[in-house]
Amino acid sequence: MSNRPSHIAIIMDGNGRWAESQGKSRTNGHERGAETVRTMTTFCSDHPEIDRLSLYAFSTENWKRPKLEVEFLMKLLERYLKNELPTYLDGNIRFEPIGDLTHFSKSLRKVIDTVQNETANCNGLVQSLALNYGGRDEIVRAANALRESGPLSVESLGNALDCPYDIDLLIRTGGDHRLSNFLLWQASYAELFFTDTLWPEFSVNELESIIKKFKTVERRFGGLN
Ligand code: FPP
Repeated sequence: MSNRPSHIAIIMDGNGRWAESQGKSRTNGHERGAETVRTMTTFCSDHPEIDRLSLYAFSTENWKRPKLEVEFLMKLLERYLKNELPTYLDGNIRFEPIGDLTHFSKSLRKVIDTVQNETANCNGLVQSLALNYGGRDEIVRAANALRESGPLSVESLGNALDCPYDIDLLIRTGGDHRLSNFLLWQASYAELFFTDTLWPEFSVNELESIIKKFKTVERRFGGLN
């Protein structure tokens, strides 16, 4: 028996440290990070055993960063989505944002909507970008949406989340061992892999080797084997 990495989620950390190590600006690290996003998305889209790739692109806490860095990240996201529309369509990749999008500028929301609508009929990989996303915020929004509907259950609340899909494999780059408010509910039975590699240097080879290890893990979901 080998596990199927149907839903892979990644906390993409280390752009800033990578840039520093190269004597470059943090924004340059984010640019390189966006290239890694494209590489990983294409890799996952070429592997039919992977159905969903969820990437932590901007957290509810990232607004605390310096204004110029936040502005740069917003522009980078907008540019990425605009430029990558052909990649989504050619690869039959559906784009599904998660998070509270109401805080973004009109122009960014328009691009998000366009890419989501244009790719709505793609039925290959689902690439989900977490944008102004926080796991706690997602759970509170879902609970609020259901507050008139009687007692909650694990199923009803789970289905009301932005992302109602359990994670199989969760990877964090950049050396830290924490979840940082990413997909808290969905990570309940995820296999966690941490690597010191900084996100701009994360490679297809490393992802392949993590998937290989993941396939051999015994997953018990609280039961016995
Ligand atoms: C963490 O690096 C990275 C982020 C703030 C989020 C991820 C953003 C990208 C990969 C770039 C843009 C994404 C898309 C989808 C176009 P960090 O700045 O926290 O690195 P550090 O811990 O080394 O400072």
